[in-house]
Amino acid sequence: MAFYTRLGKLPEKKHCTFYKEDGVSLYREELFSTKGFSGIYSLRYHEHMPTEILSITTQSVQEPKLEKDSALSWRLFHTHRDNSKGDGIKNRRLWLRNEDCSIYTAHVTDQAMYGYKNAIAHELVFVHRGSGFLYSDFGMIQFAAGDYLVIPKGCIYRLVFDHLSDNRLLLVESKTPFEIPSKYRNEFGQLQEHAPYSERDFRTPSELCSHEHLPSQSIVCKAGDVWMLQEYKHNPFDVVGWEGYEYPYAFNIKDFSPVVGKIHLPPPVHQVFSTQSFVVCNFVPRLFDFHEHAVPAPYFHSNVDSDEVIYYVEGDFMSRTGIEEGSVSYHPMGLPHGPQPGKTENSIGKKETKEFAVMIDTFSPLQKAESISKLEDKNYSRSWIQK
Ligand SMILES: [Fe+2]
Repeated sequence: MAFYTRLGKLPEKKHCTFYKEDGVSLYREELFSTKGFSGIYSLRYHEHMPTEILSITTQSVQEPKLEKDSALSWRLFHTHRDNSKGDGIKNRRLWLRNEDCSIYTAHVTDQAMYGYKNAIAHELVFVHRGSGFLYSDFGMIQFAAGDYLVIPKGCIYRLVFDHLSDNRLLLVESKTPFEIPSKYRNEFGQLQEHAPYSERDFRTPSELCSHEHLPSQSIVCKAGDVWMLQEYKHNPFDVVGWEGYEYPYAFNIKDFSPVVGKIHLPPPVHQVFSTQSFVVCNFVPRLFDFHEHAVPAPYFHSNVDSDEVIYYVEGDFMSRTGIEEGSVSYHPMGLPHGPQPGKTENSIGKKETKEFAVMIDTFSPLQKAESISKLEDKNYSRSWIQK
């Protein structure tokens, strides 16, 4: 995250003695960073040494089956028709992946009774449906539908849901951090006036977690497709204070203030996050273009530099047919796409849209999981042919 924050108790000066109440034993200082010692970081103070892990064992290797030699084509599949049950960690279903990112959804029907850590990827959790608390070794954040939860790699966390019915998540793993695009920030990192959000819209951990928020000292750790179990000697939710720029935070899609124009504005105005190898945008309710002859639907475009993935969240998506909540369209680089027949004409004269959707544009081609085909609209690639 791009601003400094702190929580709990800290010594007056970093890298100096910080004694517990007994005046003899020390709190243990840990630098938490995701880019060596030159990127953003936080300093955390633990009750115990964070290295006291009794055992690390491989639980399973879950290499997904990916499509081989499938034709480069437009795809549409309906993730909400996948009703696999689980706790949102182990039952996340992979749909699309390249060397930089993996895109999953999860249907959460059970409470995770353990902590979880992604060792080698940052995670973006979009809460499509559901509410509850994110507990982590940085503290707790209350979440609700529409929240993006941005979780740095290495952070131990647990999502606890208020209700165990109809909780749906979109999850994106990234090798590089999810960042606020530099075009929104000034030279000091502060969000500029033209940004579609401000610092106030980002929710940071409100209070520290304690042992009661983590019932097990066995942490499930994911490193790519390898799942491990780490047995800690002490409960890892033992942080008494931290400060810095690296921590989990939440941002709700409804707090995104869209930019609107006289004529159609392209997707970069809808950008929320950037990484080194893909961007995340969102479409939210907004007024349409106000030129008297404006065409609100997008023009056809050949996104030759990126694969485009759109996860449909809510509302009537103005340029698409056959869409359900939880549907995902995949438009690969090398093919043009745009509104389906009739959608351009229907958009003329419309004043606003109520749609919500999350878009991921990757700079390298994505591979498709074989499971896509079971939930796929096989007619989608022909949906642009006029009847
Ligand atoms: Fe597009």
